[in-house]
Amino acid sequence: MSQTFHNYIGGRWVPARSGKTFTNRNPATGEALGEFPESAVEDVDAAVQAARGVMRAWQLTPAPKRGELLYRLGALISQKKEELAQAATREMGKILLETRGDVQEGVDMAYLAAGEGRRLYGVTTPSEMPDKWAMSVRVPVGVAGVITAWNFPFAVPTWKIFPALVAGNTVVFKPSEETPEMGWHLAKLLEEVGLPSGVFNVVHGTGPNVGWPLVQHPGVDVLSFTGSNAVGAKLAAEGARLGKRISLEMGGKNGVIVLDDADVSLAANAIAWGAFGTTGQRCTATSRVIVQEKIHDELVRLVVQRAQALKLGNGLLEGVEMGPLVNGRQLERVSGYMNVAREEGASVATGGGRASGAELERGFFFQPTVLTGVQAKMRVAQEEIFGPVVGFVKVKTLEQAIAVNNDTPYGLSSSIFTRDVNAAFTAMRDLTTGIVYVNHGTTGAETHLPFGGTRGTGNGHREAGHTMLDAFTEWKSLYVDFSGKVQRAQIDNN
Ligand code: UN1
Repeated sequence: MSQTFHNYIGGRWVPARSGKTFTNRNPATGEALGEFPESAVEDVDAAVQAARGVMRAWQLTPAPKRGELLYRLGALISQKKEELAQAATREMGKILLETRGDVQEGVDMAYLAAGEGRRLYGVTTPSEMPDKWAMSVRVPVGVAGVITAWNFPFAVPTWKIFPALVAGNTVVFKPSEETPEMGWHLAKLLEEVGLPSGVFNVVHGTGPNVGWPLVQHPGVDVLSFTGSNAVGAKLAAEGARLGKRISLEMGGKNGVIVLDDADVSLAANAIAWGAFGTTGQRCTATSRVIVQEKIHDELVRLVVQRAQALKLGNGLLEGVEMGPLVNGRQLERVSGYMNVAREEGASVATGGGRASGAELERGFFFQPTVLTGVQAKMRVAQEEIFGPVVGFVKVKTLEQAIAVNNDTPYGLSSSIFTRDVNAAFTAMRDLTTGIVYVNHGTTGAETHLPFGGTRGTGNGHREAGHTMLDAFTEWKSLYVDFSGKVQRAQIDNN
């Protein structure tokens, strides 16, 4: 049933100029799902030309009209939620329950961004001179390049694309080559609600062949990226060289602090969901548990129990609770970290290897894994593994827990489980991540709050929420002097 898919450029569905394709595969079964264009610089160039060609017309379309289109889109996505969720599970493996959430996040984002069409608020302020008006307004940046990862193949692109569109930018999107079909669906949906040709374009292919030319293209004014730190660092350097705005959303090493007074069963459930949901492949995944001594053994016991009870398999099947890793490289990477853990002196309390058994050999399945005896400075407590692996670090006090939590190269999400309101507020104040949860795990951010992190997680930008327009707009300050005189600010009034 392998179908051939195309790029979407200037409102037309076209193959790569070279005619080359790559195969999209189901990571649970190895089955081929479709052929996608293996694009290159000339395809990127065609898409950027298309986006630039209609930029002016789109900017001049009233923002409420641009927003209305997103309302229609939200309704359409909602209607097709099940079909989209199935497609996402097929191509990247996480279970249907979760891909439904992924698609729903796109619906939420469509409605949230649609509302901006009737806000896009500017700021007015009095002038220091008489008979003079002063205000500042948001204007679109121009053409936005969007490059995203495969783990949230629907939601994360919408965090970038919908705000960019409602603000009046045109877009060239490179979906992850692991999840090209979701990129294709997004273009189909936008076409169906009547987005004018060229306003949104999709170019499929790899980072080096499509992503990099998109970053470098002089016709791309702003670039928004979600992916690994290794790639993000390169993009940031290139952005600095080109004087181009780059918004980066990268990794996490998210910790859950559990104090002795916590509801241990609630904490265990939240940790299991945060660590093993999406097979641990979330930038918000729980990868460290920072736990006080008294409650440590009981918490380990409960999390191990939950890990061992999880049913692995094809995410499309009823009753399956954890899907595969996305590809062979990820499987190797996560397996590699098991050796690192052992060499560093951590113990494997459960899991620790490739999952075997009926059907599982056909996919990239890894056992839900709990590491104990982890020290805060170990590589497994500092580096993002991006798999179903969680490590337990023992601490004595709240202060120590907070210090351990804050001491990684990342700063996305963190959490504390306690019944002590003073401890909770201390943690809310002192945890230095972009997102902090109390009595809830590290995942599950909602679209109407800013999303992003400190330190190596990003470069100061926040996505979605009330911050959604920041990456995709410039501020323009406007002064209107109706005095009929040359009024010299800072001079004539002093
Ligand atoms: C990501 O892993 O890149 O908060 C995004 C969450 C999801 C988004 C995760 N709503 O876990």
